[in-house]
Amino acid sequence: GGAGYVTDYAFSFEGPFGKFDQNQLQRGLKVYTEICASCHGLQYVPFRTLSDEGGVGLPEDQMKAYTSNFEVWDSSLNDGEGDFRQAVPSDNFPAVNGVGAPDLSLMAKARAGFHGPYGLGTNQLFKGMGGAEYIASLLAGYTGEEKEEAGTVLYENKAFPGGWISMAPPLWGDDLEFDDGAATDLESISQDVSAFLMWTAEPKMMARQQMGLTSVLLLSLLTVLLYLTNKRLWAPVK
Ligand code: HEM
Repeated sequence: GGAGYVTDYAFSFEGPFGKFDQNQLQRGLKVYTEICASCHGLQYVPFRTLSDEGGVGLPEDQMKAYTSNFEVWDSSLNDGEGDFRQAVPSDNFPAVNGVGAPDLSLMAKARAGFHGPYGLGTNQLFKGMGGAEYIASLLAGYTGEEKEEAGTVLYENKAFPGGWISMAPPLWGDDLEFDDGAATDLESISQDVSAFLMWTAEPKMMARQQMGLTSVLLLSLLTVLLYLTNKRLWAPVK
């Protein structure tokens, strides 16, 4: 299969002025919860961060209600034997190990959509690293072909390196409905859940970008001032 084909989707968080789209992250959370969470955990993401500003931004009461739907393993319960209990906001999403699906907390940073040319990296420079694009392209990249290898069913996928993945197509389009009436076609929901996974992988991205921009502006100012100082210092000598 023609593997490694990644679409350069235009995400709202790209570029130096990019911002997460709160509505999109809330839709992505819904896709994750209703579809991905049965196989994939988010074990590095604390529930309380769903209320953080600049991210999913759930109101406090909604975040608490959402959290209470989960059970987490608490090893301090039951005289140290451990037991399940209802999750509280300071807990992380549970890990899910049932079918060998990787944890998705950091996936958007563990994968790159765009590569090379090696040594230059101009593709990454112009298009970004493309972790979210890779995930969206993966979800929308099934060709419908299947094969069985050593007892495992593999599904042909245009984005997956190697071309054959053991994850059955999790999304088909119109898998769920959104309160905000947003589109539910395959490419739209794939982008929504990928944007959400970009947030889980880098929840402070906006603060980082803002810091970077401020630094560049201050350094530019410093450059101008140093140039003028230099001129002035050497003026008597020249
Ligand atoms: C792998 C995302 C639903 C089972 C993956 C990978 C991603 C992903 C990004 C890693 C691909 C890579 O290694 O580059 C998602 C999303 C889902 C979803 C966003 C929901 C929309 C599911 C469901 C199942 C599942 C429902 C189980 C029925 C797996 C398995 C793998 C995998 C077994 C490992 C595949 C392999 O390495 O061949 N998924 N997934 N996923 N997923 Fe999912």
